[in-house]
Amino acid sequence: MNKDERLAFLRNLADLSESETKLLADPCSGINFEMSNRMIENAIGTMPLPLGVATGFLINGKDYVVPMATEEPSIIAACSKAAKIARSSGGFRAYADKPIMIGQVQLVSVAFPDAGLKVISNKPKLISIANNYSRTVKATDINVKWIDDQVASGAGKMLIVEILVDTKDAMGANAINTMCEAISSELERITDGEAVVKVLSNYTTRRLVRCNAIFRKEDLGGERIVDRILYSYSFAYSDVYRAVTNNKGVMNGIDALAVATGQDFRAIEAAAHAYASRDGTYRSITTWKKTNDGDLLGELEIPIAVGIVGGVTNVNPLVMIGLKILGVKSSSDLAMIISAVGLAQNLSAILALATVGIQKGHMKLHARNIAISAGAQGNLVDIIASRMIREGNIRSSRAKEIILSMTGHE
Ligand code: MEV
Repeated sequence: MNKDERLAFLRNLADLSESETKLLADPCSGINFEMSNRMIENAIGTMPLPLGVATGFLINGKDYVVPMATEEPSIIAACSKAAKIARSSGGFRAYADKPIMIGQVQLVSVAFPDAGLKVISNKPKLISIANNYSRTVKATDINVKWIDDQVASGAGKMLIVEILVDTKDAMGANAINTMCEAISSELERITDGEAVVKVLSNYTTRRLVRCNAIFRKEDLGGERIVDRILYSYSFAYSDVYRAVTNNKGVMNGIDALAVATGQDFRAIEAAAHAYASRDGTYRSITTWKKTNDGDLLGELEIPIAVGIVGGVTNVNPLVMIGLKILGVKSSSDLAMIISAVGLAQNLSAILALATVGIQKGHMKLHARNIAISAGAQGNLVDIIASRMIREGNIRSSRAKEIILSMTGHE
């Protein structure tokens, strides 16, 4: 499809209005200076990123077109390719926990050893104070733990009070931070301690998403390829240098969708990497196995804290369009799609690594970029890119020579 056909398709799919479709065609007009200046400090403008869609995703029996904002070539193609392969065995199956987040209050100088018990016996009061500050997001429980001062800061033994919050369809950061601050003076009164840090935890281990998919051996190129993918998984499981790169690939997909839907991708990243090292060693965040039929079964379990209401979703019109294209009805839906995209991205990367290598896929877009930067326009871009690929000589100087030979001028 050309640009207009793509926009018409999305307009129809997501029931976009005329102005939303116009915004997609010219995304830079989405956030004007006043909006930027309200969102951040010392604003000078906006920083646009290419926005595209990955296709072919079948997740829990439903089709999705996935908006992705990224500057990296091949990510959207890689996701779409893996989604297509997964379709032939029923697509992705995903399951999300309830959106429970944790807020933490650190109490120092707590003299009574039974202070934790006192906090627990005041649970109903603390929960009700917290819930006074929120209409939708709800505090549901409170836990306590003691931790040692391992850096000799002088804090001594610290009592950490953790408030569990059901954030429903919000990411929840603002509400949780407000709740933590709201209960801190009551906690100081109960424990006779001093509250220092009061903030959410981005390690959202109660908000896990699990996703799996089977990729049939015939679609991957045969049993030998399945074996080679498993060798590559073994490498990423056991070696931190490979694991980081493997997980970076997973996050290529996750971040691109997170950005297109206005999520706090730093929070998702931080939680994912911590979770990848939950047994004490940083490992591949995905797992891969061979099924009894010799096919490849991939799984991704990851903490994902996202929201479809509140935060930037109410401010950036492009975010609302991204969510409309996805057609998600809850934060859990969004989290499940994000996990499927992460798994898809990883499959394509390790399939390429186990077969032709990753450079082949990158080559076409790279060659086009070189052709454009050498001055090619219109049809010439693809003609020059293909010729440079055929010749195995993708360089600006070669692109300029071809432009000269074809057009008579530089
Ligand atoms: C490139 O952005 C991501 C990959 O390096 C991931 C991987 O090696 O698994 C291709």
